[in-house]
Amino acid sequence: MKQTSHPDMVALTQVRRGLPNSDAIPGLADARLLPDQEFHSDWDTIVLDGDLKERVLRQAVVSVQVRHRVAFHAIPLHGVILLSGPPGVGKTTLARGLADRVARSVRLPGRTQWAFLEVDSHALASSSLGKSQKSVHHLFNDVIGEQAATGPTIVLLDEVETLFTDRSQLSMEANPIDVHRAVDAGLVALDTLAKRHPDLLLIATTNFADILDPALESRADLILPVPLPSTEARQTILEGALHALVTAFDASTDLLSPQTLRAAADASEGLDGRRLRKAVAEACALEESAAANPARLTPAALIASLRGVR
Ligand SMILES: Nc1ncnc2c1ncn2[C@@H]1O[C@H](COP(=O)(O)OP(=O)(O)OP(=O)(O)O)[C@@H](O)[C@H]1O
Ligand SMILES: [Mg+2]
Repeated sequence: MKQTSHPDMVALTQVRRGLPNSDAIPGLADARLLPDQEFHSDWDTIVLDGDLKERVLRQAVVSVQVRHRVAFHAIPLHGVILLSGPPGVGKTTLARGLADRVARSVRLPGRTQWAFLEVDSHALASSSLGKSQKSVHHLFNDVIGEQAATGPTIVLLDEVETLFTDRSQLSMEANPIDVHRAVDAGLVALDTLAKRHPDLLLIATTNFADILDPALESRADLILPVPLPSTEARQTILEGALHALVTAFDASTDLLSPQTLRAAADASEGLDGRRLRKAVAEACALEESAAANPARLTPAALIASLRGVR
């Protein structure tokens, strides 16, 4: 039968697919179908300068397209995107949002829905001696490989340095041979998966790029450094958090005036996105009246609190 690429028709031809049970598989933190409404909001939540978000989305889309048509030996794309940066800058949230956006952007005619799996790197790496190599092999080859064989799949490898620890920096005390083997098993699996499944994307995050095995970085199609938010980004993040507070408590819109937002952004240099959002609640706790009723938070208290946090 002739296939059509009209989006409505594609939606009709999509088949709901099975997912592994994340509660029953060690090392699997989550499994769901995409698109996903929660992940959709995650993408919108994250504020990054310039076109960083669009760039990472374009890279993911290009990766799938090229891998479908160009042989691995000509352009060895692994479908791996690495988000690297300090804690609290939005890497994990962005990764989940990206998964949703890719699923909405790349609809492969006649194929099933995208699936999303999240790997629990800590659980895999902490398997008792001698088991982590087996667990890594099982998760990548059996669980991820089998899922990818049934249709397009996105895997989040959060805090990936736990799993792909730099083999050259292993100390002799902590089972270096076992870790070495587990990293080897992971790298071999990445190569095999990349060749077999052009619709498989892996989004990895780390805030310890310096202890990440260079062989993983070499396999990344894009390494995106996610920086601390700029003044402009801080202003937008604070605006979002304050808007939520003002709406929830019917507080004064003075908190949202351009002057207040600008001063708040200036006062919060060096804070990451997580800290910025929390700082709004911290400001309420600074004074008894605002603690009792956050609607009483004043611009002056907000800015004083942000200076204190910094
Ligand atoms: N750039 C940003 N724009 C908007 N919100 C942000 C940003 N960065 C972080 N946040 C907020 O901080 C929270 C934590 O972000 P997230 O967990 O994604 O950070 P992370 O970089 O993965 O941190 P970690 O390295 O500690 O795991 C998010 O829920 C989000 O609301
Ligand atoms: Mg994270």
